[in-house]
Amino acid sequence: MTPDTSRKLVNPRARHNFQGRTCSITGVGACVPSRILTNQDLEKMVETSDEWILSRTGIRERRLAADGETTSDLAAGAAKRALKQAGVSPEDVDLIIVATITPDMPFPATACLVQRKLGSKKAAAFDLEAACSGFVYGLEIGQQFIMSRTYETVLVIGAEKLSTIVDWKDRNTCVLFGDGAGAAVLQHRPNSHGLLTAVMGANGENADLLYMPGGGSKCPATSDSVAARLHFLRMDGRETFKNAVQAMLTAAQEALARCGLDISQIKCIIPHQANKRIIDAVGTRLGARPEQIFVNLDRYGNTSAASVAIALDEVVATGRIQRGDLVLIVVFGAGLTWGAAVIEW
Ligand code: ACO
Repeated sequence: MTPDTSRKLVNPRARHNFQGRTCSITGVGACVPSRILTNQDLEKMVETSDEWILSRTGIRERRLAADGETTSDLAAGAAKRALKQAGVSPEDVDLIIVATITPDMPFPATACLVQRKLGSKKAAAFDLEAACSGFVYGLEIGQQFIMSRTYETVLVIGAEKLSTIVDWKDRNTCVLFGDGAGAAVLQHRPNSHGLLTAVMGANGENADLLYMPGGGSKCPATSDSVAARLHFLRMDGRETFKNAVQAMLTAAQEALARCGLDISQIKCIIPHQANKRIIDAVGTRLGARPEQIFVNLDRYGNTSAASVAIALDEVVATGRIQRGDLVLIVVFGAGLTWGAAVIEW
């Protein structure tokens, strides 16, 4: 299908076309570890049940990285597939952005380790931390570099090894998360709209709803901090849930309004894969039909920054979207952070 390049966007903040410059996603890829941890496996680790996890979250199983397998390994795996799909050589990448809350090390940036693994010698590289919203933040930042003609090719990766910061003794959180990575290649393509708009937001007032207390300047690692289990994530599930629904709804509505689009025009909605009940609540409030909404959290759980990137790869790989279709990505995460992106595929 030939993209409708005459589409008029009502709000100038939907700056999909700046002096003839647009930002397309020319390749996507994903990489998930081979090891599967099922709900039945978790029944043997903590006091929980497949029935509880499935009915409260929609998750059946998640992937766990092997001991020596790092966030940068998963990120590089996803990036290689995205570059191959885009037909781009790693040497031609100008910038690598890795969104993650589980970097290989506090420093250097995981993006630099990915650069080394890819052999993208001329690329600048940095990490960004916006938790589960990181991939949409990365798309918006990457777009800025493409639109400003600073760079021709930007690699945006969401990658996590959350299994290293999950407290496997805490049933409230350990059933929710998984490991994985997804990547997208951003480039200008004539006669294509690509990324139409991206909304980003944050509210630090609610930073303590979801956080990891230890390991930073406030609470550096000591034997006491380890013994107190401060190096694992903590979450107020109920409050996070409420905030997630409202923030995702508002972000999605703002992104659609900027483009002058109605939800019925969206072919595929890719929400952050945290909880099926959150996804259903957002979908209902948006007035979306169930068949518009993509869900894969039953197989991967919540992979934070990788979540919507893995999902985007799957919707492309399975032919669920075709060139010219409209896609809405909507995310929410610790920070609190949120975001939404509208893409003409
Ligand atoms: N198995 C069995 N029982 C459990 C489990 C479990 N795994 N976990 C909690 N329970 C119990 C609780 O102890 C509680 O028992 P109680 O009533 O005796 O105290 C009961 O189940 C209900 O607990 P709630 O927390 O009220 O359960 P809720 O229905 O809210 O579901 C959940 C919990 C799944 C965590 C939900 O609140 C949620 O998904 N929240 C949002 C998480 C999220 O979206 N995070 C996104 C950002 S992630 C990021 O940025 C990295």
